[in-house]
Amino acid sequence: MPYPKLFAPVRFGALTVPNSLQRTSQVSGLATEDGHVTPELTQRYLREAQGGVGSLVVEAAVVNPSRSSYNLRISDDGLVPELREMVNAIRRHSPQTKIGLQIMHFLKISKSGWRQRVSDFPLEELPVIVDQHVQGARRAVEAGFDFVELHMAHAYTLSSFLSLSNDRCDEFGGSLANRMRLPVEVYRAVRRQVGDAYPLGVRINGEDFTVKGSTLLHSTQIARRLAELGADYLSVSGGSRFEDSPPPDPGNPPDPMTGYSGHRMSPASWFPDLTNVYLAEAIRAEVRRGGFEVPIITAGKIRNPDQAEQALQDGKADVIGLCRALLCDPDWPAKAKEGKAEEIVTCSACNWCLEADTRMEKVNCVRWPSGALNAPVPWLRGQSRQSAQTDETAATTGA
Ligand SMILES: Cc1cc2nc3c(=O)[nH]c(=O)nc-3n(C[C@H](O)[C@H](O)[C@H](O)COP(=O)(O)O)c2cc1C
Repeated sequence: MPYPKLFAPVRFGALTVPNSLQRTSQVSGLATEDGHVTPELTQRYLREAQGGVGSLVVEAAVVNPSRSSYNLRISDDGLVPELREMVNAIRRHSPQTKIGLQIMHFLKISKSGWRQRVSDFPLEELPVIVDQHVQGARRAVEAGFDFVELHMAHAYTLSSFLSLSNDRCDEFGGSLANRMRLPVEVYRAVRRQVGDAYPLGVRINGEDFTVKGSTLLHSTQIARRLAELGADYLSVSGGSRFEDSPPPDPGNPPDPMTGYSGHRMSPASWFPDLTNVYLAEAIRAEVRRGGFEVPIITAGKIRNPDQAEQALQDGKADVIGLCRALLCDPDWPAKAKEGKAEEIVTCSACNWCLEADTRMEKVNCVRWPSGALNAPVPWLRGQSRQSAQTDETAATTGA
């Protein structure tokens, strides 16, 4: 086995995951405008699971009823059957892969340039946010997902409560204990809903990367508290906040994908490989000091199996998160496992995928043949556009 750590099973609580590679959440733009599952969305996850990744986190599904075009939704019981169908399709296709759903509550924005702040929520609305997560998690369990991930990273609601930039003046803002109050209430309520045996992970920012935001000092404490509460894994991301973003175009709110923080979530080509691994390393050390064995997931420009294996060998994390790398080549895990790492089509960290939203396009990879909705099968370095397109047609028609 060329990469013993990458292909060692890992446990998320009671769930055994076949290897230590996780496809982290990636908004795809493939849901319908009002958040329903489409055949293209299912096809995206079938293709990604096919390459042998151990766990796959289906993109952030919205728990609050506010409009959010092309974001997958889990805000209504009526969505459960179609999500179940998608989970069953992935499972039939790739029975080994464990399938999770990231659930997310977002802050509203408007065309006037207004962006909701955590201080805009009246106290009586906070229990509603808790309940929206509880109902979202209940639906995810009913839909058959193997695990649920609470989204407490980036520019979304729970992350914004955790952040040092939280501007509330009551018991939900100010000190770290206060800033954690709502996220902890959400965690506890969701845990009560899903039960102790159901795997529940949390994604947090290791650092906000804004002047007024949280630092690693805060996130190590947040992680330790979540470990104490029984989170079954902690996934460490970073950045993607808007407080320091450059002035937006007129009629737009500040964009969390711009500015320094914006560039740290999915580190672009000019960042070093393994950009954010040190965040996971510090969090892991603090959580272990507390006596907790919860797996720590790291992600951020980890592009080849040698560097991924080394990070695990060095004890910097327990699971490697792959997002763009797996979009570019979903067969990354299978090729590594078979000792064919040199055949992996390497992500160039150009962020064409990340910028799809700005181009008002569905998320795809610039390295695929033009017009393809997924990586071809097989997907080989140096494969000509012509033959790749033929293979893609064969794959999608089941030929
Ligand atoms: C197009 C795109 C969409 C993303 N959507 C999400 C998301 O919904 N939730 C989330 O936690 N992270 C999201 N991310 C961040 C990734 O999960 C990942 O942490 C980041 O891209 C770094 O990993 P990578 O270098 O392997 O891409 C997204 C990234 C990209 C490129």
